[in-house]
Amino acid sequence: MKSPLIILALIQGILSLNTTTITTAALPTYFHNDTPWYTPRIPLFTSSLSTLTEVYYYRWSLYRAHQRDLGPDGYITTEFLNDVSWQTQPYASLVDAAGFHLREGRWCRDRRFNGDYVGFMLDGERGDMYQFSEWVADSIWEGHLVDGDVDSAVAKLDRLVDVFGGWEGNMTEAGTGGFDGEKGLFWIQPLTDATEYTIASIDASGGVDGFIGGDSFRPSVNSYQFANALAIARLAELGGDQALAEEYENRAHAIKANVQKSLWNSTFEHFIDRYQVENENVTYWNYIRGRELVGYVPWTHDLPDDNETFAQAWVHLLDSEKFAGSNSLRTSEPSYEYFMRQYRYEGSQRECQWNGPAWPYQITQVLIGLANLLDHYPVSSNLGIVTRKDYTDLLVQYAELHYNPDRGGALDLEEDYDADTGRPIVGLARSPHYFHSGFIDLILSGFVGIRPRADDVLEVNPLADGDSVSFFRAENILYHGHDIAVQWDTSGEQYGTAGLIIIIDGETAASAPDLTRLTVNITRNKPPAIQRPMAKSIQLQSDSAWPRGSVSVTGADPESIHAAIDGRVWFFPEADIANGWDTPVGNGSEIWYQIKFGISTTTASAELAFFANETQGFDAPEGCRVEVLDSGGWVEVSGAHYTEPVANGITIASWDEVATECIRIVFVPKREQRVRLVEFKVFSEIS
Ligand SMILES: *[C@@H]1O[C@H](CO)[C@@H](O)[C@H](O)[C@H]1NC(C)=O
Ligand SMILES: *[C@@H]1O[C@H](CO)[C@@H](O)[C@H](O)[C@H]1NC(C)=O
Ligand SMILES: *[C@@H]1O[C@H](CO)[C@@H](O)[C@H](O)[C@H]1NC(C)=O
Ligand SMILES: *[C@@H]1O[C@H](CO)[C@@H](O)[C@H](O)[C@H]1NC(C)=O
Ligand SMILES: *[C@@H]1O[C@H](CO)[C@@H](O)[C@H](O)[C@H]1NC(C)=O
Ligand SMILES: *[C@@H]1O[C@H](CO)[C@@H](O)[C@H](O)[C@H]1NC(C)=O
Ligand SMILES: *[C@@H]1O[C@H](CO)[C@@H](O)[C@H](O)[C@H]1NC(C)=O
Ligand SMILES: *[C@@H]1O[C@H](CO)[C@@H](O)[C@H](O)[C@H]1NC(C)=O
Repeated sequence: MKSPLIILALIQGILSLNTTTITTAALPTYFHNDTPWYTPRIPLFTSSLSTLTEVYYYRWSLYRAHQRDLGPDGYITTEFLNDVSWQTQPYASLVDAAGFHLREGRWCRDRRFNGDYVGFMLDGERGDMYQFSEWVADSIWEGHLVDGDVDSAVAKLDRLVDVFGGWEGNMTEAGTGGFDGEKGLFWIQPLTDATEYTIASIDASGGVDGFIGGDSFRPSVNSYQFANALAIARLAELGGDQALAEEYENRAHAIKANVQKSLWNSTFEHFIDRYQVENENVTYWNYIRGRELVGYVPWTHDLPDDNETFAQAWVHLLDSEKFAGSNSLRTSEPSYEYFMRQYRYEGSQRECQWNGPAWPYQITQVLIGLANLLDHYPVSSNLGIVTRKDYTDLLVQYAELHYNPDRGGALDLEEDYDADTGRPIVGLARSPHYFHSGFIDLILSGFVGIRPRADDVLEVNPLADGDSVSFFRAENILYHGHDIAVQWDTSGEQYGTAGLIIIIDGETAASAPDLTRLTVNITRNKPPAIQRPMAKSIQLQSDSAWPRGSVSVTGADPESIHAAIDGRVWFFPEADIANGWDTPVGNGSEIWYQIKFGISTTTASAELAFFANETQGFDAPEGCRVEVLDSGGWVEVSGAHYTEPVANGITIASWDEVATECIRIVFVPKREQRVRLVEFKVFSEIS
């Protein structure tokens, strides 16, 4: 007879097969009072590599912080938290980061964010599609592989064709990029590729500068356009336009053939730039004189053939004299004459450069490329030049960059890093929580290995290395309208069952004893309908006419008053990215913040975001009320209901619908505390 303890353990083991989940109960650890935003929206993830778990959730807070509500124009995703001078006004959009944003956002269960953002970029002329190189068509295709929503993706086809055409016309006109018909390749100024100070731009200046100039045929832009053309071809096929599909399939194949023929440098065994510019220092069509990390971008988009020649490029990645710094991947090699020479400063602080610094932007591309190679380049991966262990190690190394030693080791991703020390280089006021890279997608499509597909199959091929990872589990993933979970447990000690398990809608659908590829047929469900409550209170820039904010305190800074209605919500503590309007220290008297709409506007609810930080002396107010301007003066809205005021989260007010030109919130700051009103968002509907 077995002891009761063993029987209990067996029962728990059986039960835990289907019942042990991470559960959303873990979320308050990461998101505190803001947890309600995340619970319905994000897939959950945990791993024995706790750095990956922690950074995974940080990356969702980064994603949330960069959702800018434009009011009637919906949401876009931003690259910098605050305004920068080169953004597209008045929205703060920048197309160079869009590919990363959409690829992270494809895992968000709330499809509004990607849907709005794609609409913003393609419907109408609001975003600038030609300010930087982009892979938006490809990202739309990649997004549809996760949600299975063919119609929404095909609906963008005409505009994607238009934008692709514009890369030949509009770019050439701007003088910063275009298509060379004779070579059959795209060229671009490195700055317009969002990578200033590359070998091409520095050497074209004779080593003097390199911020602008250095126009080149680059592996990056050609891979993007290859992927964009292929995405258009596939969408055209789904949309039933065979002729268009064929045309773009041919374009993609031509770009691929020309990249392989012309940008592969067999001396360096790497894809590298060739000059498009011709001047006293460099010659049209000559190769640049060194390897750059951008040479792996062809694999990010599955461009190269799978063969032994091209696989040699991966030898350089792990070589400490080449790309492998002690703490991250260099963008060019130490042998380059101007490696890490600092050219550009803001004041005395170093600015962004690509002559060696590590960039999360390109680390993401390399890791996607490496995952592609390990997943479906059998000839190359069988050479053993790079392995799953390398993938896991590089992913963990990348995760570690997210902890900023210059900010006490806090989670704070910035622009670029010294690949040897792992410290951020730029550290400007605009730098904290920079969003021009991916991580969530690397976890879910790489480490966990969900390889999204266009057909009715769920394929999972974890790249997690079995020797370094004892367990992981990802759940709450919306795939083709189903709830997916993937679980690995080496010993069975974590989840009660050893091995790899795929769970669809709560039922085990496939399993294997090892970390191996599994495929399961899956039907296609319609994804949940998208809810689009529209904020009425958003002022895009401080000089936009309406709506307008004002406060009861005299002498307040107009920019910070604007910040409380600018559609941006985050609760990060760094002072240089403080977001909202700060009241004076509480002394028992009432304070108000007022919004004038400029036109009679129906109102019925509001979302209030208050910041708190004990050491900085901020807290949520004692309570608050909403008032509207009536003929007789200010009155509290009728039927008002307020949730308990929370700090670093959303407080909700709702009331009987009322039309008004002016609305305000009135509150008393706690004694000796200030209130930072991060956002005051007003809706016409009950939220
Ligand atoms: C760019 O070119 C496309 C197609 O050639 C055209 O439809 C579009 O209006 C142009 N856009 C801009 C911003 O110039
Ligand atoms: C070429 O290099 C020299 C330095 O050797 C520099 O002064 C000059 O401006 C460069 N020419 C161009 C067109 O940038
Ligand atoms: C590769 O590039 C280098 C540097 O520009 C050049 O010297 C070399 O000839 C190139 N190799 C080939 C095979 O063209
Ligand atoms: C790899 O593919 C390229 C482009 O098709 C070709 O030039 C090269 O010879 C191939 N290498 C091998 C080893 O097959
Ligand atoms: C777990 O799920 C599988 C597949 O749906 C089912 O056959 C099994 O009975 C379930 N086990 C428990 C303990 O619920
Ligand atoms: C999966 O679907 C394919 C294609 O419809 C079919 O041939 C195959 O038998 C299915 N496999 C299973 C296990 O149902
Ligand atoms: C209390 O604070 C309000 C505004 O914050 C200010 O106008 C008022 O003068 C203060 N009262 C006292 C007694 O300090
Ligand atoms: C409060 O702000 C300080 C910086 O002033 C920061 O070091 C600390 O981590 C913040 N506290 C929390 C809980 O975020």
